[in-house]
Amino acid sequence: MRKNRRTLHKDFRILTLDDDVIMTSTLQAYFQRSGYYVDVINDPCRAIEQVREGAYDILLLDFLMTPICGDQVVEEIRKFNKDIYIILLTGHKSMAPPIRTIRELDIQGYYEKSDRFDQLELLVESCVKSISQMRIIQNYKTGLSQMMDSLPQLYNLDNTQSIFESILRITGKVFCGEGAFLMVWGPKEEGETEKIIHVTGNISREEVPRMVETAQFDGQTVLCRDGMMLAAIEDESRRTIGILGTGMSPGTEYVQAQMMEIYVRQISSAIHNMRLHQLVSVKNEELTRAYEQLNESYVEIINAMRTVVDERDIYTRGHSDRVSELAADLASWLQKDKRFVDRVRLAGLFHDIGKVGISDKILMKPDKLDEKEYADIKKHSDKGAKILSAITLFNDVVPIVRSHHERMDGKGYPDGLQGEEIPEESQIIAVADSFDAMTSHRHYRSNLPLSAAVEELEQGRGTQFAPHVVDAFLEMLESMGEESFSQKYDTGKEHDEGGEKR
Ligand SMILES: [Fe+2]
Repeated sequence: MRKNRRTLHKDFRILTLDDDVIMTSTLQAYFQRSGYYVDVINDPCRAIEQVREGAYDILLLDFLMTPICGDQVVEEIRKFNKDIYIILLTGHKSMAPPIRTIRELDIQGYYEKSDRFDQLELLVESCVKSISQMRIIQNYKTGLSQMMDSLPQLYNLDNTQSIFESILRITGKVFCGEGAFLMVWGPKEEGETEKIIHVTGNISREEVPRMVETAQFDGQTVLCRDGMMLAAIEDESRRTIGILGTGMSPGTEYVQAQMMEIYVRQISSAIHNMRLHQLVSVKNEELTRAYEQLNESYVEIINAMRTVVDERDIYTRGHSDRVSELAADLASWLQKDKRFVDRVRLAGLFHDIGKVGISDKILMKPDKLDEKEYADIKKHSDKGAKILSAITLFNDVVPIVRSHHERMDGKGYPDGLQGEEIPEESQIIAVADSFDAMTSHRHYRSNLPLSAAVEELEQGRGTQFAPHVVDAFLEMLESMGEESFSQKYDTGKEHDEGGEKR
């Protein structure tokens, strides 16, 4: 429905200035009848201060006044106010100031006084139209800038509650209504029908469902009715997933509806984002849990396999544990950092895991292995690396296990690496592995005494074993003494295997 002019004009403030009291009171009466707010002043000097304090939209002023003329008043006003619309009243055309002055002082028009004010009213209405448009642009600019400032809050993915509160806070700030509400449905794909309702201002939670139920959007996103503006929040398939409602500041419904269109798109995208984020978080947690369970069960399996390898017969029992301990101590003796030592310890435990696939016939053969059997057994370091590579936890130890039978002279297996090409962790395990194999009782030979094992290590220094690891071994042995060393590393007992018979 079209509003009457009186209602339209009530937001515009006019000041009339003339030293002729009758003229100002006549103008006041005339424009008040049209619905304007009109103040009167008859002293041109005091008028300047009144404009400064009064937030007027339009100034109607006489040109010829005392002690100062209208153009001088305007000149002063323009020093602090460029926005007020000014219409100059003149007694006669010939008395009007030159057009150049009118332009310089940014005077919107002049009116030749008569006993009829209809032409002046047209001039005022033309000013009102311009002012309205300026206000719309200003509102738009302010609203958009408030929205832009507030957008980061909408994309705070921490929690639903804070996003919903931010939406209502920004709504109140941008649309200046007396209250707002937000109603959001639970995600449909999960079959939820829960409705989350937040309210601010003078809107009660109880009245929200009624307002929402009676809203007919008919393809529109924003609906204005009864001083309220309702906006549909939509998901990526344009299904309505919620409604934002707000009171409106009167007079600029069109602009507010335009701004709401922009704003509600941001809200839709923020809520959609939040839901995706929540979905991803839940799925991530499920995946992490599943992955951890998988890891745990894999580690259990590998541990079981290790036990199978170690416990196949009394000769192999405990070998991996002893190699792991001796190798870790050698790494510490070499002043390696904790991560290095941990890698060596873990690789020592699992270094022979690849033997799980080698037949008992070969592993427990009392005689020397033939060529094919030896070739089979040599595959265990590669097999072990493959078994361990299936799990992230063992990523670091895979190459160590693969290379624990490499030799410094390049005659080892599986890759024939030489010298520093062999991971240092593998060099350490090789010494610990061979020492434990030599000093343990085998089904194909008796254990060697400690002195003989040491001699073999010394003989292999630089060809089979890394010199600095053999040196570290000898230093450790000397430092601990043979008895403590034997006790600690459990040498000379009837158990185990480890290094392969060749
Ligand atoms: Fe081995």
